[in-house]
Amino acid sequence: MKNKFQDLRKRFPQIVFMEEKGEFYLDSAATALKIDVGIEVLRQFYETNVSNVHRGEHNLSLKATEKYEKAREKIAHFLNAEFNEIVFTRNTTESLNLLAHSLGSFLQEGDEILVTQMEHHSNFLPWQVLAQKKGLKLKVAPVTSSALLDLNLFEQLLNPKTKIVSLTHVSNVTGVLNPLDEISSLIRKKTSAYFILDAAQSVSCQNLNVKKINCDFLVFSSHKIFAPSGIGVLYGKKKLLEKLPPYQVGGGMITDVSETKSEWAKIPYKFEAGTPFIEGVIALGEVLSFLRKELDFKELLKWEQNLVFQAENLLSQIPGLRFIGCKKNRTNILSFVIEGVHSSDLAFILAKEKLALRAGHHCCIPLMKALCLNSGTLRASFSLYNREEEIYKLKRSLDTALSILL
Ligand SMILES: Cc1ncc(COP(=O)(O)O)c(C=O)c1O
Repeated sequence: MKNKFQDLRKRFPQIVFMEEKGEFYLDSAATALKIDVGIEVLRQFYETNVSNVHRGEHNLSLKATEKYEKAREKIAHFLNAEFNEIVFTRNTTESLNLLAHSLGSFLQEGDEILVTQMEHHSNFLPWQVLAQKKGLKLKVAPVTSSALLDLNLFEQLLNPKTKIVSLTHVSNVTGVLNPLDEISSLIRKKTSAYFILDAAQSVSCQNLNVKKINCDFLVFSSHKIFAPSGIGVLYGKKKLLEKLPPYQVGGGMITDVSETKSEWAKIPYKFEAGTPFIEGVIALGEVLSFLRKELDFKELLKWEQNLVFQAENLLSQIPGLRFIGCKKNRTNILSFVIEGVHSSDLAFILAKEKLALRAGHHCCIPLMKALCLNSGTLRASFSLYNREEEIYKLKRSLDTALSILL
C-alpha cells in the first residue's frame, strides 16, 4: 500500500518542487495539490485546442465540445449518476447558492430548512439569506461536545414542514464523517424534504455513489480532488433538475429568445449560462477517470487515517494540546488547540518553519461558537502525497513555536 501512494506522490509536480525547497504541505482540506494528468490536459488544450464549446461549427470548437461533454460523462460515471444530472458551476459555494435560489423559489413562508452546526459558511449563508428573504425558518442541528452531529436532536428537528435538509458529509474542521445511512433514512422517514449533500471534503476520501447515498443533490469542488480550481460540480436527480428554474441567465442556456419571453434549454444546459471553464472541466474528467482506475478510495482513506493516527500519537505528547472531534469518526483531518496559544500565532511560526497548514475558524464560525473555540483551531489535513516525515516535521515545528510563544 505504501509504495502505491509513494509512486502516486511523484505525479504531483508541486510536491517535488516543495520537497526540493524543504517545504511541507498539510493543507489539502483547503485545496489539494494538482496531479500531472490534469496539468497535461490544460497544457495540451492551451497549445492545440483553444476554442469555445457549443458555439462553433469549426473543427476546434467541435473537438473541444466533444471533450467537454465526454468529461461530463466521466464525472457522471465517477458519481454513478446520469450524464444530464451533472451541472458545472464555479465551485461548491456557487452550487449551493444555485440550489438556494432555485429550490428556494418553491418554498413558502413558514417552511423549514435544516442544516447543522458543522456546516461551512457556504452551506449556511445561502440558506440564512433565503430564510430571511422568504420568511422561512432556518433550523440548525447541534453537535455534541465531541463535535459529532447529535442524531437525536437532528431527528427531533425533522418534521413535515422541513422542505430542505442540507449537510456536510465530512466536516472541514474536524474531519468527522457523518453517518449518511442513518441520516438519509431519518430524512426520508420523517419528511419529504430535498436532501442536499455537501461533498466538498468527502470527494477525496470516499467512494461517492449518489444512488446508494440516495441524496437529491450533491455538490463538490474540483480543486479539492487534485484538479483545477474554478469548477464546481452539482449533481441533481434528473426529475428535480427538470423542475428547477435556472439560477443565472445568458448565452448558451436557451432554445429561443423573443423580446418578451424565452425558452430554457434542456438539462443540464439551462443551468450553464455563459462560457464555462472548458479546459478545467476536461481536466477534471481526466483526473476522476484516472483516480477511479488507479485508486481504491477505501485504501486511500486507510492510508490517510493511519497518518492522522500517527500524528495524534506524536502530538499528544505536547502539554496542553487538545484534539477537536472524535477519533472514531475522523477521516483525514486533525484539528487541535493548545492551551494559552492563539492558533494564528502558531500558524505564523509554522509558516516560517516552511509548513503549510491552516489556522482560524475555517469558515465555520457557528461551529467555533458552539465548541467555544474562540481562537479557532490549527488544522493539519492529509492526502495521498503526505507521509510520516511531515508528521515529525509538524511536531518539531510546534515544539519550536511553543518555545517562542510560551
Ligand atoms: C465542507 C465544505 N463545504 C464547502 C466548501 C466551499 O468550497 P469552495 O470554496 O470550493 O466553494 C468547503 C471549502 O473548504 C468545504 O470544506
